[in-house]
Amino acid sequence: MRNFITIEGCDGVGKTHQTRLLKQFCEENGYNNMVFTREPGGSDIAEQIRKIILDARNTDMDDLCEAFLYSASRIQHLKDIVKPALEQGKVVFCDRYVHSSYVYQGLGRGLGLEKIVLLNEIAVGEYMPEFTVFLDLNPENAFKRKGGADKTDRMEAVEQAFHAKVYQGYKKLIAERPECFEVIDASGTEQQTQMKLREVLFRRGVLR
Ligand code: TYD
Repeated sequence: MRNFITIEGCDGVGKTHQTRLLKQFCEENGYNNMVFTREPGGSDIAEQIRKIILDARNTDMDDLCEAFLYSASRIQHLKDIVKPALEQGKVVFCDRYVHSSYVYQGLGRGLGLEKIVLLNEIAVGEYMPEFTVFLDLNPENAFKRKGGADKTDRMEAVEQAFHAKVYQGYKKLIAERPECFEVIDASGTEQQTQMKLREVLFRRGVLR
């Protein structure tokens, strides 16, 4: 869907920070038609679902329950934030979206890509991103850079092998559908990555 851009990457890669820097740049440069949001959460009910998903005490959560909760949060967030903004002609940047479910639940948890793609088709319908920015840094280096995983976050706390599968999962999706992605090397400094991100957005005509 035009004007709908998602940002993906492994935990600790700096996605959230890069999105914040981009938001600041847009505000300072008079782009007032941009909406920055994130998943899971991003709106009142969706944030309540996020708390359940990420609560480190919920160690017994079934993998399929987790997949449905991410989709549930996504449906609500689409209704509350994404759809109204797109209808008003705004550009929406969303920190994580369906590709996170494909790789974390489908491949990382091993529920199977097909099942999770189907679940998300039901959840989002035609609301697929115009393109997806992938911040490319392997999880080992990403965690090293941020000083280790956050053990109070149920997803970050999962063993390293899981995050390696997630990273390989992203690589597989990108190899299969390269036209859907803009891959950015995120191994440099924050500012270098930010400049690369802006370059992509200028090239794609999102920034002018
Ligand atoms: P968050 O703290 O927002 O991580 P980040 O800042 O790296 O985005 O937590 C989101 C976590 O949820 C992250 O570990 C990825 C995971 N996730 C899924 O497993 N499936 C999904 O569909 C989404 C949106 C996120």
